[in-house]
Amino acid sequence: LKIAVLVSGGGTNLQAIIDHIKSNKITNTEITVVISNKKDAYALTRAREANIAAECISPKDFKVREEFNEALLKTIDSYEVDLIVLAGYLVILPEIMIKKYQNRIINIHPSLIPSFCGSGFYGLRVHQEVLNRGVKVTGATVHFVDEGTDTGPIILQKAVEVGEEDTPEILQRKVMEEAEWDILPLAIELIANDKIAIRENRVIIQRD
Ligand code: GRF
Repeated sequence: LKIAVLVSGGGTNLQAIIDHIKSNKITNTEITVVISNKKDAYALTRAREANIAAECISPKDFKVREEFNEALLKTIDSYEVDLIVLAGYLVILPEIMIKKYQNRIINIHPSLIPSFCGSGFYGLRVHQEVLNRGVKVTGATVHFVDEGTDTGPIILQKAVEVGEEDTPEILQRKVMEEAEWDILPLAIELIANDKIAIRENRVIIQRD
């Protein structure tokens, strides 16, 4: 399975995928390219250190959004990948790309969808809202990307206890360490081994 990983930040989810492939917990899979909208994203450094092609394509470099959309899609197409993984990628994907790669784009979101998700819910804001609401359990979700925001079929979820002393930073770290870095590589492995089927917008996992 050839994958493109799209990133905007520190790349700890990317690193988890790199490490799982290296320790061949995920077989027959390679990260073909890492693409960021931020040239200083540490995720690009992680890619280079792992000898993975690293590209920066930023909306800021284009006069009109349509040109960015076309450049992003053209670049991804050029790598001929089977799966696109959004790992902390903060740019809205072009419709044309979601259609072309239907059910071949997955995203990791740091909450138990459908709670605490949708436009505006990303990064620390998610965890701030979790603490404000006083929920006892949060977690992370890997889902297929469709035209909506955080609305595609759910592949995997993992719960994380919310501590009474947790700050948004502590909670974000717990959700990443205990959930995100676990279920994102696992979702990729399931897809690589063809264990995923979608029926009426629900994901069926073939567990043998
Ligand atoms: C984090 O907020 C994580 O919860 C979300 O994307 C952000 C950056 O993650 N998935 P990463 O360290 O760049 O993978």
